Amino acid sequence: MAADQDEVLDQVSQVVLAVASQLSVRDVLQMIVRSARALVGARYAALGVPDDSGSFAEFVTDGISARQQAKIGPLPRQHGLLGVLLREGATLRICDIKQDPRFWGWPAAHPDLTDVLGIPIKHGSQIIGLIFAANKRAPGGFTERDERLLELFAAHAAIALTNARLYERGRELSVLEERARLARELHDAVSQKLFSVRAKARAAAMLVPRDPDRAITEIDGVADLAGQAHAELRAVIDGLAPPDLSVGGLVGSLRSYAVLAGKTHGVPVQVCAGELPPLDPHRETVLYRVAQEALQNALRHARASRVCVCLTAARRQVVLEVADDGAGFDTSAQQDGLGLPSMRERAASAAATLTIESSGRGTKVRMAVPVPAGRS
Ligand SMILES: Nc1ncnc2c1ncn2[C@@H]1O[C@H](COP(=O)(O)OP(=O)(O)O)[C@@H](O)[C@H]1O
Ligand SMILES: [Mg+2]
Repeated sequence: MAADQDEVLDQVSQVVLAVASQLSVRDVLQMIVRSARALVGARYAALGVPDDSGSFAEFVTDGISARQQAKIGPLPRQHGLLGVLLREGATLRICDIKQDPRFWGWPAAHPDLTDVLGIPIKHGSQIIGLIFAANKRAPGGFTERDERLLELFAAHAAIALTNARLYERGRELSVLEERARLARELHDAVSQKLFSVRAKARAAAMLVPRDPDRAITEIDGVADLAGQAHAELRAVIDGLAPPDLSVGGLVGSLRSYAVLAGKTHGVPVQVCAGELPPLDPHRETVLYRVAQEALQNALRHARASRVCVCLTAARRQVVLEVADDGAGFDTSAQQDGLGLPSMRERAASAAATLTIESSGRGTKVRMAVPVPAGRS
């Protein structure tokens, strides 16, 4: 009994530390699910955060291999007993889920669940997620004690989620945030350049009668700046439209984008890519978008003399690295930008791990996207 209590304390304090740490929300949720599963002695456990479209913004599981996860297919919808938990917000303890009239069914590759314990995750009166455990190893099904333990983990999950405000975001950035980002990008990239174009053009006009040679230099400057503004605008437009990766492929599209973006900022960008396994469109888009954002950051903030974008295949993973040799930044400080959070969300949507290392010698963004064996 004492040993048992020690284990409970140990797991719970690990979770508390994780919640208070700088770990990504997904990592924290993963830890919560893992500890919850271990403590209630379940074969499977999962934690879901609903989005506005009837699916889940996050759905982390424990007890299922990545391969089986991939076989199961897309994230569940908010129906069946998951829907009941989210709507009614009351604990569910069921001996045999398939006998329950509210049972909805699951994909062919889904593990066969019998007894389940489900707890809503609440923030105030709002239901922001759910956590459940299934298939208790010991006979007799889940107990009252299991219920209390899982409630404790649900409370920690609520804190982690509230901190991250993930439940407000959904899978993609909201329209408003996206607009704000665009407005700022257009301002930074284009509006400032056009302002200088106007100033230079005026100066040139005044110089024509007095000093035609300098006027010509100024006019050349106007042409240069206009060219840069044009390229920046194109990069913004590129970022707006969903990338069409079917034409150039992921590597081809990334290469042309990187070359263009590098030219715009006058920084050489090197792209290296190994042989990649075939990827589904979602993974490709995530890789492309995260590369794009990391590269834009390197070009706009780092004052780097060079940037490297690398795509390589490792064991059942595709790894993206974007490295610059610039000024670096404090990755533990809160940043106002939307780029880094959107990178994290995109990575999470592909179950990828994203790490950012930064020091005075530069920044390296690394994302490892798991690729299920056998198919894409
Ligand atoms: N490669 C980098 N080098 C230096 N600073 C960076 C780099 N990437 C990000 N940053 C810092 O992090 C901040 C937040 O980045 P981000 O969320 O993409 O927002 P934004 O690019 O719109 O400012 C940047 O404003 C910058 O200060
Ligand atoms: Mg950015």
